[in-house]
Amino acid sequence: MIVTVLGSINIDFVFEVPQFPQLGETLKGFSFARYPGGKGANQAVAVARLGAQVFFCGKVGNDVFGQELLQSLKSNGVGIDFVEREQNTHSGIASIWVTKDGKNAIVYVPGANALVDTSYVERVLPKLAAAEILLLQLEIPLQTVAYVLRNLPQRSPLVILDPAPAQDLSTLPLERVDILTPNQAELITITGKKEIKKAAYDLLDLGVSQVVYKAGAEGAYLITKKKVRHFPAFPVIPVDTTAAGDAFNGALAVALSEGRSIEEAILWANAAGALATTRKGAQPSLPYRDEVEAFLKKTLTF
Ligand code: RIB
Repeated sequence: MIVTVLGSINIDFVFEVPQFPQLGETLKGFSFARYPGGKGANQAVAVARLGAQVFFCGKVGNDVFGQELLQSLKSNGVGIDFVEREQNTHSGIASIWVTKDGKNAIVYVPGANALVDTSYVERVLPKLAAAEILLLQLEIPLQTVAYVLRNLPQRSPLVILDPAPAQDLSTLPLERVDILTPNQAELITITGKKEIKKAAYDLLDLGVSQVVYKAGAEGAYLITKKKVRHFPAFPVIPVDTTAAGDAFNGALAVALSEGRSIEEAILWANAAGALATTRKGAQPSLPYRDEVEAFLKKTLTF
C-alpha cells in the first residue's frame, strides 16, 4: 500500500521558555534547537518510520535549509522525487516556543509552501491519484487543497485531512474527505460551535465521512453519523507536544493501509501520538514501528 503526503515542509527554530511571553516583554529562554518539521513532512516521516511506503509532494526554497530538509526526508526513507525547489523564496520556517510542561505555540512563515499551487498539483496529480491513502493538511494554500479534492478520482485514494492550522473550510468540497482529524481549536474555528459533538455533526452534514477528533490529553474520539466512541489517552509525561498530531495522522494512515479497522487504527495513532510527546522536536520525536508495538504491548497488558 502506498501512502502519499501533499503538504508543507519547514525548518523549526525551537525555544524552550519558562512561560509564553507577554505583549512587549523580552523573555529569556532556556535553550534553542533547530529541527526538520512542517506538518506535511512530519506526517510523511511518521508513515515511513511506521513501515509503509510513502512519497512526499511539496516545495522547499533556495536556501541551506532546503537541502537539509530533503536530506531528513531521504534518510527516513521518504520518496522525494516529486519535491520541487523554488528559486525565488526561502523554505518554510517555524518559530516554536515550548514550555517546561510540553505545551507549545507556533508561528510559521510558509515561504516555498505558499507556492504549492494548482499548476504544481497538475504535475503531481497522477502520483496523488495513484496512492491508496492521501494525507493532506492546511499549511499549503487552501485553494490548492480544494483543487486536489475536486480532481481526485471518486473512490480512491482514501483522503485523511488534518485541518491544521485552523481556518474556514467553506470553500472545500468536504464530501471528498474520508477522515477529518481536527483538534478542539480547529473544530471551533471551522464550525463556530463550542460543543464538540455538535461541531463534529456539522462536519458530517457537510459530507465528511468520519471525524476523528484529536482531544490531546483526553485521547481521541471517533464520531460518525452512527456512533461516537472515546479512545482514552495513554498515560505519558509530555516534554514537547510538537508534531504529536502528525505522529497520530501518520499512524492512522499506516494502520488503515494495513487493513486494520478504524478503531484499531485510532488506538495505534493514540500510541504514536503519546510517544511523540515524550521527546523533543518535530521529526526527531516521531516513533518507529517497533516502539509503537512495544508501547502498546506494555500498556495494554496492564
Ligand atoms: O505540527 C507541527 C509542525 O507545525 C511543526 O513541525 C512546525 O513546522 C509547524 O508546521
